Amino acid sequence: AVMGFSMQMSATTGLLLLITGVVGYKLLQLGYVSVGSIGVAFTFIVLSGTSIQMFFEWLAQFEEAMTGIERLDNYLRRPLETGLKLPHSRQFVTNHPTYASNEEADLKRQALTQKPSAGIDVVDLWLKYGEDLPFVLKGLNFSIKPGEKVGIIGRTGSGKTSFVQALFRLYPFAEGKILIDGKGAGDVDLSLFRRSIALISQEPTLFRGTVRENLDLPGRLPEARLHDALARVGLTEWLEAHPLKLETVVEERGRNLSAGERQLLCMARCLLQEAPIVVMDEATSSVDPQSEEIMVRATREFFKDRTQIIIAHRLSTLEHCDRVLWLDQGQVRLFDRPAAVLPVFQSTHL
Ligand SMILES: Nc1ncnc2c1ncn2[C@@H]1O[C@H](COP(=O)(O)OP(=O)(O)OP(=O)(O)O)[C@@H](O)[C@H]1O
Ligand SMILES: [Mg+2]
Repeated sequence: AVMGFSMQMSATTGLLLLITGVVGYKLLQLGYVSVGSIGVAFTFIVLSGTSIQMFFEWLAQFEEAMTGIERLDNYLRRPLETGLKLPHSRQFVTNHPTYASNEEADLKRQALTQKPSAGIDVVDLWLKYGEDLPFVLKGLNFSIKPGEKVGIIGRTGSGKTSFVQALFRLYPFAEGKILIDGKGAGDVDLSLFRRSIALISQEPTLFRGTVRENLDLPGRLPEARLHDALARVGLTEWLEAHPLKLETVVEERGRNLSAGERQLLCMARCLLQEAPIVVMDEATSSVDPQSEEIMVRATREFFKDRTQIIIAHRLSTLEHCDRVLWLDQGQVRLFDRPAAVLPVFQSTHL
């Protein structure tokens, strides 16, 4: 609307110039005005015309910018996830809860548990991705003991990844709860909860930044620990080959690394996280022998004292688990020793 007005303005300026020209010419002929004063009148009209036009163009831009701010404001006023607060250093007018300064400092040092592993209790868990979407997890009930190594199997779409999302509380539950080491959301801070789970997905999550940043974004770990983690996953030689060492730049999604290197780097990060629970979600698409091998090494060596949840598509990977959970259309079909679950699953689906 303002843009249209600015167009109108330039038309008005043109009309004014025309009228002034005609009238000025008549007056000049009659000897009432000098050529100079007509010139001044012209200049004045053009100048004021342009500045008025500029004013309205600026108004148009301002209007546009304000809708951006409005959207941002709407976004900032959205309710926070339950169990989360905003950083103490930030001041918002949105009335969101913020941490007290000492509370925030404590939180950085805290861990959900001091033990190397934690138990998980899933109680009557119902999950759907949206109000009008069907349930994808339908009343899950099971417990995983601290240090247990649990495999999850199920046909595609049975809810394996959805369970992992639920574990991280990426979606609100319709009903039920998940307790880690006996604590649910509401008992502890959500960030503590999430920090206690390390996720190894088959699409390694690397971002543009240095190796150091990809391993330890807050930059709170000593360099020796980073080197130690890289050595354990076997990336020392790789690092030595790069002159910038820990400052070597990793491209977006780790494009400048091989698939194996990407996985190992993510593995090193998970080692540094020292989470009591480690989740490995293997995608169907990428079951190459190399990732398989890394996965097996991870479960046997790197994370052997942790609670492990392994989603694998090769049944051979799951033979060494303590128990296997068979998910079928969002429900637990069987949860028992591998020898009791895998053959039944195999005869049902292959
Ligand atoms: N973000 C989402 N929004 C809506 N529906 C989803 C979303 N993610 C998954 N679903 C649905 O939830 C159901 C379970 O999906 P899920 O990803 O948990 O399956 P999965 O067992 O991990 O399968 P796969 O073996 O192929 O990885 C599917 O029907 C899927 O369409
Ligand atoms: Mg999945």
